[in-house]
Amino acid sequence: MSFYQKIKPMLFKMEPENAHNFVTKLMLIPPKIPFLESFLANSYCRVYKNLAQDIHGLHFYNPIGLASGFDKNAEFVRGLAGLGFGFLELGSITQMHQEGNPKPRIFRHVAEESIQNTLGFNNIGVRGMLANLKKHYPFTVPLGINIGKNKNLVLADSLKNYELSLEELKNYGDYFAFNLSSPNTPNLRDLQNENFVGELLNMARGITQKPLFIKISPDMEIDTMLAVCQKAIECGVNGIIATNTTIDYSVIANPIQKDGINVGGISGRALCEKSREVFRILAKHFFGKTTLISLGGISDSNEAYTRIKMGASLVQIMSALIYQGPSLVARINKELHEKLIADGFSNITEAIGKEIA
Ligand SMILES: Cc1cc2nc3c(=O)[nH]c(=O)nc-3n(C[C@H](O)[C@H](O)[C@H](O)COP(=O)(O)O)c2cc1C
Repeated sequence: MSFYQKIKPMLFKMEPENAHNFVTKLMLIPPKIPFLESFLANSYCRVYKNLAQDIHGLHFYNPIGLASGFDKNAEFVRGLAGLGFGFLELGSITQMHQEGNPKPRIFRHVAEESIQNTLGFNNIGVRGMLANLKKHYPFTVPLGINIGKNKNLVLADSLKNYELSLEELKNYGDYFAFNLSSPNTPNLRDLQNENFVGELLNMARGITQKPLFIKISPDMEIDTMLAVCQKAIECGVNGIIATNTTIDYSVIANPIQKDGINVGGISGRALCEKSREVFRILAKHFFGKTTLISLGGISDSNEAYTRIKMGASLVQIMSALIYQGPSLVARINKELHEKLIADGFSNITEAIGKEIA
């Protein structure tokens, strides 16, 4: 039994946000103890040549990334990289720090291996994140920075808010992802329209030539989603990250409610099918035209490989890490490596998009 499986019952008795804070504090320990850090790196960070690829000038040792939301402030970069991730997406960060929504704001649906969160971009703000990033950057694996919008702004000020964040961060991330899809910031998802996405990317291209992504929701009307992504591509986006959490509460048996209303976004296994289907449509239209990153309910190498064959160059995980613990990334990578060999692919790039429906 792994160390994580031993401590999981204790962690799962803790309030979820406290458990997250406890685990992330543990991640600060290995970088301070060289023997422990190299022991973990030897255990988790195997390099498989057939998983490596270059995308937009960045080298990815493997396609498994950490989704944004786990390390919102870039505090645990070294500890997380020690788990074997091919890249880390940090954030979401907002220009000014904010507390987020009242606690409790993370809920487990254990039987469904899913999470419901109402966090609302609790983070220390761009300056705080920069102070943390400066300790590490440039780093051994690509660091993406996911930028959100401050809550206390009228929607008309959103563009300026993203611009100020990007301007301050531009020298310290390997790629930037604009989060237009968190359900926990009022009206944020309204920014998923062609006009705003066009303005956002034109603004961003004026500031940086680094890769730019937009992260979209799984709950959009299909026509809107396709139009928004098409516009993003025309305006120079490098890729689409799909998907964020869902507010389709039918995917879960007993969604948490506040004042009788379902709240927050659902992630994990309950989101898997929905994210996969959204991704299928996205890939059908845009594979080969932009880089696609898939996430939502990925919890094993089978699902990761499915998304890759559907057209994802990279995948990300988050909820499964909470349920399965730190050995998950190494396990998925090892099994992906074996699957590529079994299917006769000499490199992951040959498998990407092989089964576009
Ligand atoms: C606790 C929690 C916090 C999250 N915070 C963010 C965030 O700050 N920014 C963001 O773009 N997505 C955030 N997400 C969404 C994840 O990045 C991801 O899109 C979603 O959880 C689906 O992946 P999963 O099923 O592997 O968890 C968060 C998810 C969870 C569970």
